[in-house]
Amino acid sequence: MNKNILQKFRIAIVMLLSVASISAQKKSRIVEDFNRNWNFKLGDYPTAIQSDFNASDWRTLQLPHDWSIEGTFDKDSKTKQAQGFLPAGKGWYRKVFTVSSKWKNKVVSIEFDGVFKNSEVFINGHSLGMRPNGYISFAYDLSPYLHFGKQKNIIAVKVDNDAQPNSRWYTGSGIYRNVRLVAAEKLHVAQWGTYVTTPEVSKEKATVDFKVSIQNDADLPKEFKVVTNILDANNRSVAQLESTEKIGANSNLEKGQHFIVNNPKLWDTKNPNMYKVVTKIYEKSTLVDEYETPLGFRYFAFDAEKGFSLNGVLTKIYGVCLHHDNGALGAVANFHAIKRKLTIMKEMGVNAIRTSHNPPSLELLQLCDEMGLIVQDEVFDVWKKKKVTNDYHKYWDEWHKRDLEDFIKRDRNHPSVMMWSIGNEIREQFDSTGVRITRELAQIVKSLDKTRPVTSALTENVPEKNFIYQSGALDLLGFNYKHADYPTFPTRFKGQKIIASESVSAYETRGRYDMPTDSIRFWPKKYGETFDGNPDLTVTAFDNIASYWGTTHEENWKAAKKYDFIAGTFVWTGFDYIGEPDPYPYPARSSYFGIVDLAGFPKDVYYMYQSEWSDKTVLHLLPHWNWKAGQLIDVWAYYNNADEVELFLNGKSLGSKVKKGDELHVAWKVPFEAGTLKAVSRKDGKIVKETEIHTAGEAAKIDLKSDKKSIKNDGYDLAYVTVSLQDKDGNPLPTADNLINFKVTGGAKIVGVDNGYQASLEPFKANYRKLYNGKCLVILQSNKKAENITLEATTAGNISLGTVSIKVE
Ligand code: GAL
Repeated sequence: MNKNILQKFRIAIVMLLSVASISAQKKSRIVEDFNRNWNFKLGDYPTAIQSDFNASDWRTLQLPHDWSIEGTFDKDSKTKQAQGFLPAGKGWYRKVFTVSSKWKNKVVSIEFDGVFKNSEVFINGHSLGMRPNGYISFAYDLSPYLHFGKQKNIIAVKVDNDAQPNSRWYTGSGIYRNVRLVAAEKLHVAQWGTYVTTPEVSKEKATVDFKVSIQNDADLPKEFKVVTNILDANNRSVAQLESTEKIGANSNLEKGQHFIVNNPKLWDTKNPNMYKVVTKIYEKSTLVDEYETPLGFRYFAFDAEKGFSLNGVLTKIYGVCLHHDNGALGAVANFHAIKRKLTIMKEMGVNAIRTSHNPPSLELLQLCDEMGLIVQDEVFDVWKKKKVTNDYHKYWDEWHKRDLEDFIKRDRNHPSVMMWSIGNEIREQFDSTGVRITRELAQIVKSLDKTRPVTSALTENVPEKNFIYQSGALDLLGFNYKHADYPTFPTRFKGQKIIASESVSAYETRGRYDMPTDSIRFWPKKYGETFDGNPDLTVTAFDNIASYWGTTHEENWKAAKKYDFIAGTFVWTGFDYIGEPDPYPYPARSSYFGIVDLAGFPKDVYYMYQSEWSDKTVLHLLPHWNWKAGQLIDVWAYYNNADEVELFLNGKSLGSKVKKGDELHVAWKVPFEAGTLKAVSRKDGKIVKETEIHTAGEAAKIDLKSDKKSIKNDGYDLAYVTVSLQDKDGNPLPTADNLINFKVTGGAKIVGVDNGYQASLEPFKANYRKLYNGKCLVILQSNKKAENITLEATTAGNISLGTVSIKVE
């Protein structure tokens, strides 16, 4: 037997043994997906908590669900432009379910990952509690009120997102994250009841401190065994400890365990090696609970001069800020949608995400752990002083401590999380209350986790005027924008560790090109040359229109790259998001700041980052090649790994260019002539890469490309299909805006359509969409039918239909 087979054989035996022991032990924690078969209705129905309530006219749906994204854009919407003119309001969810009588002696709880917002949960007529914060995860114990056996239980959730405006960006409305039902034995690991840290890490050896909080809800004291295993990615135990404990009736016990792991595989952004801690609790020889905690071995540091290092290696933070919406799906937290978003970012070379400006979904953190993305985990956009009338300031006094504690407890075991941000551009930085509140929040964080720096995204960079800074409680100073002042930072903030927590805020529309491109213009007007907007509410995708508080992508990156003491930069933003389209008015309804548009199609500047941040060889040409004869076109190329780029038009050389100094692209001015524009990059005279773009002729056919060949038959999995028109030779038509109709058969339904145009008023839920600058997107979701999927696309005129087939597994 060769080594590989032996290894597999050994894994199989270990797995068999553990399966056998678990089944022999029979009962332990049961975690059930509780997303299906909910009824929903917009409006307020306080009597829906009663068992005899008639919900026959309520919709049946599967969570996660966002009702705002299903609505129509309304100029007079109370949510206003900041939330993309989509509706909010009140809504109720209701679910009828039975619980096996075998669960009678268990502790049954319901876990909500996030409900936007002001939720109140009722079980069989009893209120379990309210939760104003729409981004916080929470759970309730249902046990005292449950019926077992055949008798029905009614769970009802009231969601009140009516008081508007309440956010500076699109929030969505409803139970927009996952819900689970958890049945544990009376003796169990408490909610978020573990905490794992790695005080010493090296390639040779790591120490692990593990704390577990055990809850006994029984009226009797208990004696039990805690067995903890650290498992590697192949589920092999690399360390194990067990101890026998005693716990009183209805009480809690905290147990600490200390491990040594030899030769740990370190977690980093290229090799995100994950481990997990599995805690088993036995009463006599019966397994009563099993609980998993993620674990990664890494060490990191911020330095006032050198910036950030991961596992001892200096690593510039190539970050993006992301809001939580998933484009056409709205706020719905779907694992596959989040994975696509992060994959597109990772391919660009991103190594860090800032969860601006709220606690993220669980899935985002799990994916960042698995994919090797560093996280700046952010909790608040406001404290006690408001930014908009009905935002979180209303709940500050009563809830901030609880929300912050829950946020840290839920997220502190994820190795990807390396910074806690206690707030974004908080108003209190400008007055002395900032000192007290910052100290209080930092102290709350430190009481739960001392292993990560506490930071805050600041805008005031005059030290005496910034009271959050004055508190002395931040470990890491985050500055939003301020790129022009970087050279002064080491003297202004002597000895401080600094990161650009937010940067850029440049505006762009995918596929739109305005020329000439020679100057940077600011929008809205403040200083320098001004951009006054385009009549069709677009902004050129040549990177030269910036907000007056920000700058272009290139100028920002030049500044961040130049200074080692800037640990890195979080660009505002990785993706366009719904809301905040200003300075354009209605019908503009989503932002222009993304490096990638709302549909997930990269704007050209994506390749500037890819050429600087990733290992990929890049040679990207812009704009497209469909113009009027003789028109003078600015041609830009982003490239790397080469020392020159030569441009050819229809075979004729237009000369070679080289990036000079800190330049990030090269450019030519070319009188347009239809045909082929080709760029060739070379290093030491040898060709590195060639890129061609072609003038497209008449539309001949629709092209459909799915990002996946097959999807799972689970009701959740997604396939993203990109739609474009091609001429008879297969060249894409870069400015096409045809209306495309879709028909799907088999195991999927259409859950969203989009084209990335920030001022489109077409609905996100439809079976049609206009192309915008040549592209649109259809999002398909498994409908649980075990049938292969066919998506068909048709359009008017003499254009052949497009089809794509996707398998269902
Ligand atoms: C920042 C703010 C972000 C976003 C951005 C737009 O000041 O932190 O949330 O509003 O401006 O440029």
